[in-house]
Amino acid sequence: MDSVVIFDTTMRDGEQAPGATMSLEDKVQIGKQLERLNVDVIEAGFPANSRQEVEAVAAVARAVRKPIICGLARPVFGDIDAAWEAVQHAARPRIHVFISTSDIHLDRMLRKSREEVLEMSVKGVLRAKGYCQDVEFSPMDATRTDPLFIYQLLEAVIDAGATTVNIPDTVGYAIPEEFGGFVKSIMDRVPNIGRAVVSVHCHNDLGLAVANSLAAVKVGVRQIECCINGLGERAGNASLEEVVMSLHTRQDYLGVTHGIDTTQIARTSRLVSDITGMAVQANKAVVGANAFRHESGIHQDGVLKERTTYEIMNPKDIGLTGSVLHMGKTSGRAGFRAHLKEMGYDLKEEEFGKAWESFKEVVAKKKSISERDIEAIIAEEMRTVDETYRLDQLHVTCGEPGIPTASVKITTADGQEWTESAVGDGPVDAVYKAISKVVSLPNQLQEFSVKSITESTEAMGEVTIRIQSEGQTFVGRGVSTDIIVASGKAYLNALNRLVAAKGEQAPVKS
Ligand code: KIV
Ligand code: ZN
Repeated sequence: MDSVVIFDTTMRDGEQAPGATMSLEDKVQIGKQLERLNVDVIEAGFPANSRQEVEAVAAVARAVRKPIICGLARPVFGDIDAAWEAVQHAARPRIHVFISTSDIHLDRMLRKSREEVLEMSVKGVLRAKGYCQDVEFSPMDATRTDPLFIYQLLEAVIDAGATTVNIPDTVGYAIPEEFGGFVKSIMDRVPNIGRAVVSVHCHNDLGLAVANSLAAVKVGVRQIECCINGLGERAGNASLEEVVMSLHTRQDYLGVTHGIDTTQIARTSRLVSDITGMAVQANKAVVGANAFRHESGIHQDGVLKERTTYEIMNPKDIGLTGSVLHMGKTSGRAGFRAHLKEMGYDLKEEEFGKAWESFKEVVAKKKSISERDIEAIIAEEMRTVDETYRLDQLHVTCGEPGIPTASVKITTADGQEWTESAVGDGPVDAVYKAISKVVSLPNQLQEFSVKSITESTEAMGEVTIRIQSEGQTFVGRGVSTDIIVASGKAYLNALNRLVAAKGEQAPVKS
């Protein structure tokens, strides 16, 4: 049975989702998790975007050794050189060259003729080929392009050395049967198509990205481009977990296999949601909180008698074990380390030390610890942004009647200690105002959300916030058994990211 190549573009197209910006450290952390998930290709970014992007993609290429690491580039030498500068560090590098091909993009956006686009594409592929063997080519907006031009262009880039040709439904316009027919016509009409892997990249504007990808598999496509949680430009890309679980569950119909370790799906989904601050809707297929919950009495009765009466997938297959760990106050460092290893985490000594300290804090407050709690601790500790500001103490008084008041003690990286107090509309507002008195970085709070990591009143709370400063968005996350503390940590985390991105010194107290 053929295997479908799973090409993850969470860190490139996914990052194009508004507000989903990822730092270098975020990308390395996601890259390592994608490696555990066993994806075949990771598109780690668009290096021509900025110096930071070159460095982030290079860091992923150095840290993540098993999958192919891919960098996106337009067919211009500067882009291709930047992509190579970043991916050359990979064990298996790939350069992905793309250009628009539809008349509307050519006339209104690029102002180029088809001949010019063809010439640029071939030159771009040849330039990329001068750097590495593995070159992918994408005609952007393929589904609104004259098919005859697509056939001609793909033949030319395959002759120039493209080893994968990708058919993007850039604006999510296609309908499954039609898309399958279009891809089939490419297979039939491009004479040298057998020399390349045919791939698809579907957007979800009409909610059809996964259906279109599967229709393409049915006619012989062997690479699917997708994102964790269906992240991506506008309505997003095909969701990796839905594509993979469809291939898995309906192998009888689709007739292909995949190399994904499906038991890592839930954890990968949570990590990407934690890092980007983009929540997963409860009724999202495969990874939504309700995906395996049964509400109606009839369904519950059925599932209790025989799980498969209403479940087509086993929650265990996507890594939902719900297991409670036999770890508590008396558990030692070695036991904790062994458990992390079992969960697939291989932490550096410094990261482990921080995780251990957080673990001890949590077990002091909670009776039972789940793997989800540990994931949350690790996600927080490994989101290593330089701690320009550290929250050392937080004290809040509030109640009815009463004036919510917060006092904070913050230590800066250069050892200064600041103590401030403020009153606010509520305890969280008071904490934010007190912190803002110490950290003089103007910003607007755009989003604030609290969720419980596990169930029960003693659960850890997770706060995600988004702040905006000079048009840039920064996500901050904080975890604690106390949601006010989690809010303070989340705000400082976002401020630390803001400082790191701007490369500024810690501003002094206003
Ligand atoms: O949607 C699209 O066309 C893309 C290309 C760069 C592949 O993201
Ligand atoms: Zn795209």
